[in-house]
Amino acid sequence: MTLEIETYPNKETLANSAAKEFSRHARSAITRHDRFSVALAGGSTPRVLYSLLAGDEYASKLDWARIHLFWGDERCVPPDHPDSNYRMARKILIDRVPIPEVNVHRMQGELAPEEGALAYERLLYRYFSWKTPVFDLVLLGMGEDGHTASLFPGDRSLRERKRWVIAVDHNQPPVPTVPRLTLTLPILNFARKVMFLVTGESKAETVRRILVSGCKLPAGMVKPVSGNLKWMLDEAAGTEVG
Ligand code: 6PG
Repeated sequence: MTLEIETYPNKETLANSAAKEFSRHARSAITRHDRFSVALAGGSTPRVLYSLLAGDEYASKLDWARIHLFWGDERCVPPDHPDSNYRMARKILIDRVPIPEVNVHRMQGELAPEEGALAYERLLYRYFSWKTPVFDLVLLGMGEDGHTASLFPGDRSLRERKRWVIAVDHNQPPVPTVPRLTLTLPILNFARKVMFLVTGESKAETVRRILVSGCKLPAGMVKPVSGNLKWMLDEAAGTEVG
């Protein structure tokens, strides 16, 4: 694993750099194996990135016919629910770019959680031709408690080593009450590249605990086995990182 830590003046410059990385990685993956598989992050931080990718500077330069969108996690809600990570990406990115519908592989949050997890595992089996999924890129955010995707501190989901996708019902404040689906740590760690996008002062201490003290919070357990890990921080989130 190679580790990069970059700090940017603000979330806009961070998103611009992330868009450049996304674009570069997409081109390289498509050259290498004629397609680019990326697992999108939920939450609010990646919204600026998704908007840039749908904008004039990037949309026309990306080969959307060979780009396949997946999700790192999803809330167990219908696809048109305000809390749906898919809905957020659909509105900000997918509806604004010429990506074929068959390339959009959402988690079915409308199903019963365990059913949704099994359905996504079947989808990944098919896409990755029955081999262990190796995403070209995984985008992740981090909560103030150090969670990432829907892998929360102290949750049994962190110990899952066989399943690729699991249902999480980590029903403790301040995390949300709705159950979620998430890729498991092994799948995140098989990725060729993982990019954390983390902004805001409220996360600075958790970033320090992970990147300076090596705390084993969920976000600190994402270490691609043979891939590249890049933490992209704005100055506010990176104040504690030298
Ligand atoms: C989600 C995400 C979650 C998110 C972090 C950070 O479904 O909410 O998968 O892991 O990335 O909670 O969220 P913000 O970007 O909104 O701070």
